[in-house]
Amino acid sequence: MNYILAIESSCDETAASVLKDGCEIISSVIASQVAIHREYGGIVPELASRHHLNDIGSVVRSALEEAGIAPAELSAICATQGPGLVGSLVVGFSFAKAMAVALGIPFTGVNHVSAHLLSIFLGQQQPDFPFIGLVVSGGHTSLYRVESFLSVELIGHTRDDAAGEAFDKVAKLLGLGYPGGPVISQFAEKGDKNAFLFPKARLLDDPYGFSFSGVKTAVRTALNRLSKEQVQQAIPDICASFQRAVVETLVSKTLCAAKAFGMSSVVVAGGVAANKALRYEMGIQAQKAGIQAFFPSPEFCTDNAAMVAIAGYHQLKAGSLAKADADVYSKLLC
Ligand code: KG4
Ligand code: ZN
Repeated sequence: MNYILAIESSCDETAASVLKDGCEIISSVIASQVAIHREYGGIVPELASRHHLNDIGSVVRSALEEAGIAPAELSAICATQGPGLVGSLVVGFSFAKAMAVALGIPFTGVNHVSAHLLSIFLGQQQPDFPFIGLVVSGGHTSLYRVESFLSVELIGHTRDDAAGEAFDKVAKLLGLGYPGGPVISQFAEKGDKNAFLFPKARLLDDPYGFSFSGVKTAVRTALNRLSKEQVQQAIPDICASFQRAVVETLVSKTLCAAKAFGMSSVVVAGGVAANKALRYEMGIQAQKAGIQAFFPSPEFCTDNAAMVAIAGYHQLKAGSLAKADADVYSKLLC
């Protein structure tokens, strides 16, 4: 398997990547739709599908050109199969499947969440198995026990909003636009994280579960008590205090799982893993607990096809191929 082409289209990024010899990413191209969805304050699924249709051909062509290879040189193809927006997934998955059939090469479908977890193997610093994995993005906030490239077991997940979704919704409440994570984290740097005391859902009956709808509601309640001018002045403090509540919850639940399962490493992946405060706090608290925390580089935290290539490579190596009638899925399966 010299060259593997991977395609990602689960949400609002059309991405393609070529992996060489199972370890070297030789191209990674991403066409982001953020500017299109920003106008609506969030992702509009039908628009996302239509833009994937528009972009998929040129993104794949660019990935092959950047890698300097022809389609005939590909050894296998993989694509995200789910979870995600069905209309978006179908575009990348069928394109990849059709290309594999036309070239007569193997094809496999990749779980988007596993791909986020395995994105850590795109960097220099790589953990040994097993480890506790936290996938924290716009669509997911879940904890996993990761035994190997192919064995990923869900141990807890959010019962309502994902952490990234909470960042996006709070940014919308504050009129800061979409996506919320990067802009909230920028304002938070200038604010006082102790200015507002926002709740952290502990969920004593569900130690590895998360809930972020309460903190979002608490922000709304706090805003209702302030005048427009006061809100404008308090934005940095609100952002810092909200971010603190989310970060502390993510850190404590992840390290609690690592201790309970006797793991010496944790991996944090997904779009919210790009958050500087989360990276800092997880690093410090993990170190205190004698645990090593790993983060993919920020470019591989948000959706990309390089992570799909790594996950797909290990499936293909193990002989796990998609059936001819393989379909996409919208919900978390593992
Ligand atoms: O992984 P991703 O690109 O897409 C999903 O699979 O959902 O994650 C996107 C999410 C968005 O909710 C965005 O607000 C959040 O990741 N995000 C951040 C940061 N950068 C992106 N959240 C907090 N801090 C950031 N720096
Ligand atoms: Zn994602």
